[in-house]
Amino acid sequence: MDHRALPRLAAPAVAALLAVTTACTGGTVQGRPGASGLRDPYFPKAGNGGYQVEHYALDLDYDPTDGVLHGRAVITARAEQGLSSFNLDLSGLRVEDVSVDGEGARFNRTGNELTVRPSDDLKKGQVFRTEVGYSGRPKALTDADGSKEGWIAGEDGAVGVGEPVGSMTWFPGNHHPSDKASYDITITVPHGYEAVSNGELKSRTEVTGGRTRFAWHNPEPMASYLATAVVGPYKVTTGRTPSGVSLYNAVSPQEAAASERSLARQSEMLEWGSRRFGPYPFGTAGAVVLPAGTLDYALETQTKPVYPGAPEDEALVLHELSHQWFGNSVSPKTWKDMWLNEGFATYAEWLWDEDHGGPTAQAHFDALLTGDTDVDEAADSDWAAFPPADPPGPQDISASPVYQRGAMVLHRIRQEVGDEKFFAMVRGWAADHRHGNASTADFTAYAQEKTGHDLKKVWDVWLYGKDRPK
Ligand code: ARG
Ligand code: ZN
Repeated sequence: MDHRALPRLAAPAVAALLAVTTACTGGTVQGRPGASGLRDPYFPKAGNGGYQVEHYALDLDYDPTDGVLHGRAVITARAEQGLSSFNLDLSGLRVEDVSVDGEGARFNRTGNELTVRPSDDLKKGQVFRTEVGYSGRPKALTDADGSKEGWIAGEDGAVGVGEPVGSMTWFPGNHHPSDKASYDITITVPHGYEAVSNGELKSRTEVTGGRTRFAWHNPEPMASYLATAVVGPYKVTTGRTPSGVSLYNAVSPQEAAASERSLARQSEMLEWGSRRFGPYPFGTAGAVVLPAGTLDYALETQTKPVYPGAPEDEALVLHELSHQWFGNSVSPKTWKDMWLNEGFATYAEWLWDEDHGGPTAQAHFDALLTGDTDVDEAADSDWAAFPPADPPGPQDISASPVYQRGAMVLHRIRQEVGDEKFFAMVRGWAADHRHGNASTADFTAYAQEKTGHDLKKVWDVWLYGKDRPK
């Protein structure tokens, strides 16, 4: 029965109904199934309804020689409604056991949905702990745009990346950016391998069978697509920024020499970002440089971006670090809001250039508008495609207009309101939504309110308008 229907009934009828409910359930609160998806405009089945996760404890064990992953996920969540059952997203793998608050729970699987039926219904507001044991050889997904995501096994190691929906290939969860949680990820690997994940390395312990167990702690809220786990024979270096953010770089040995120059600038980039955007939102930072050929894009995985080989272009490092503010701390409410990630990270590249003797943001903007490909690529095709806030489908959320035309929207705001108000707005946006979620509508309302300018024409023409402005 749907409790939301109750207020519409007269009081005596409510009392009678409640009496009946109590009679047939022996006094326990009756729940209903949680939704199997959050109806994201592009990934309707991503995430699940009826609860919010507070914490993931993932205990992973991976052997690169056979590619088998053993996992145990302990998911602490709060019920947002009475729940008779709820779903987790999981793709592939074999589920061995499921329990809720220590009691075995029934479960079944259809597609990427793992449905869990606790022995007792969960009450609205109740905090509950779901434990899932699973194993198998994870299978990466091919994205709508043809790229690979999820658990990707390489020649001598593996990487887990999740944007947008790949995390379900390596752990069960509420895989939608609107549900952020803290994480403890431990990874046990054969001796001689390193294992890297989000946040801070708490311990590195030799365990039985010649194996090493790495315990990583990520205390700040994180969207599950930003979780990562990396295994391989990496070369590790550590450091600290002048502001006290600890740095951890894990670099594939064959990429080490070529990575040195751009990774050495991370500290300076984080200090610069803190001045431009406000304090760096996390306690740790760093990089994972994968062996070339493992992955064909970089990803801003929280506190530890992964690079698909040596990031010889420092702009790429700057881009991924800027995502820590825009995307990771302020996360999109749905996958349609992707320009808030990519437009900001691209604009950050322009600002960095401007502040370091390169082309100004205005020069980047002009080049894209006129199609001068000496400064920026792909201008004409961007204009032929779609506006940044309206990618036609899931295959387009990481396409060039989301980045370039997204950055142009920000520059248009700056032109309208001037530098002082613009940078105050950007810092305010990062501060007000720190460790939260925001939508495009949240942004347009915020920008207008904070700057005191009517920006409707900017939105109509640059954010939602299909054609190249005159
Ligand atoms: N968000 C990543 C970045 O801009 C790019 C991810 C590309 N993913 C993809 N499926 N094409 O750094
Ligand atoms: Zn990006």
